[in-house]
Amino acid sequence: MVKFKKDFEFNIDENISNLMDEAFCRVVEECENGVAGYYNLPEDSKMIVTEVEALSSSETIKNSDTIAVIGIGGSSLGAKAIDSMLRHKYPQAKRLIFFENPDPVEISKKFASMDKEKTIFIVISKSGSTIETMSLFKAVISHFNLDLNGDDKDRLIAITDEGSVLCHFADRYGIKVYTIPHNVGGRFSVLSAVGIVPLTLAGYDCCSILEGGAKIVRRFFNREEEHILLKSAFIATNWEKYRMNVLFAYASFLDDFTKWYVQLWGESLGKIDRSGNRVGLTPLGQIGSIDQHSFLQLIIEGPIDKTVTFIKIEDFENDILIPDITLDGIQKCDFVNGHTFNELINAECDATREAIAQQGVPVDTIILDKLSEANIGELILYYEILTSLTGSILNINTYNQPGVELGKRILADKFKK
Ligand code: PA5
Repeated sequence: MVKFKKDFEFNIDENISNLMDEAFCRVVEECENGVAGYYNLPEDSKMIVTEVEALSSSETIKNSDTIAVIGIGGSSLGAKAIDSMLRHKYPQAKRLIFFENPDPVEISKKFASMDKEKTIFIVISKSGSTIETMSLFKAVISHFNLDLNGDDKDRLIAITDEGSVLCHFADRYGIKVYTIPHNVGGRFSVLSAVGIVPLTLAGYDCCSILEGGAKIVRRFFNREEEHILLKSAFIATNWEKYRMNVLFAYASFLDDFTKWYVQLWGESLGKIDRSGNRVGLTPLGQIGSIDQHSFLQLIIEGPIDKTVTFIKIEDFENDILIPDITLDGIQKCDFVNGHTFNELINAECDATREAIAQQGVPVDTIILDKLSEANIGELILYYEILTSLTGSILNINTYNQPGVELGKRILADKFKK
């Protein structure tokens, strides 16, 4: 179960109420007209799970212990976030390795840790021609001497848009292809084949993740999740005052989730709006309690220009204790003796939230009763819907990313002879 709690005042007058209704209608339209297709993934991707489970009975997959994902941005961050969140609950899951960054040291280290005979390689690119991904894919083919005309194609999968250059390449060699719906953008694609194929192959229960996602989509369209509309209206109408949102997640395993959130918001909400103005909400991912010792000071005493969202896991399902030991001369730390670390981290989350709220900083909290697959699905769809609503109120195209093209063109020029 996921609960959403707000600690900020927001006066819902007629204007705001109309704004919320309009944003809701636009999202309904987007969904009905097929402008954005991610709302359908929790239902549609169940088929992919069934298909991948059937594929998993092949000898090549049965004998594998590693799934190597070659992709970047929306083609890797979602699966990586889910893997990080669930890994400790799945000791038997196959290892997932992500080739994202063209960092030569990291590439060599990963190569050295892998055995081709025990690896399934999944190249993921919606466009099919992202320079980092294709360069890494070439490096993988070359390093592992993958014979695309022989047996090695059984350990290769491509995930891409239908008709993309990667799709044509895979077809030419008879490599298995999963397609991404045209109306599902990279950063909204985690519950498409992009996330579902590698995660199912690794052994995760993706059906439960999809069920959690389906639940919040259903409830949102029935107007049973009004807090999402309210939060989007608050952050979008106050974006010039509160230009940043800090996602303060109280669990180390949420670190990759904060990176997924940063990409979702950064690429979706930093735009030139339809009237030609530059708008945007800057997302910042922090981990509690570690970042209480680095970033918190800035939130508490720096400018009040941020909203802060906490993620709290009520039950970590782990009762490791702070031992009842007194260290000579350090008795002042004994007040937590005998308590669980679960209690400590959550008390820290509450204390920090109260301290921040006392400064007049708008705060809200997302509470997961525990880290279940369904809660993860719900959390993902919550953020995607929130992003769509916020983009709609900001009067921008949430789903494009024209700003990243310039750097790509300059890069290509640098390699021109
Ligand atoms: O959200 C997006 O669209 C981007 O971040 C892409 O996911 C990223 O650029 C990778 O693109 P592709 O999947 O086409 O290789």
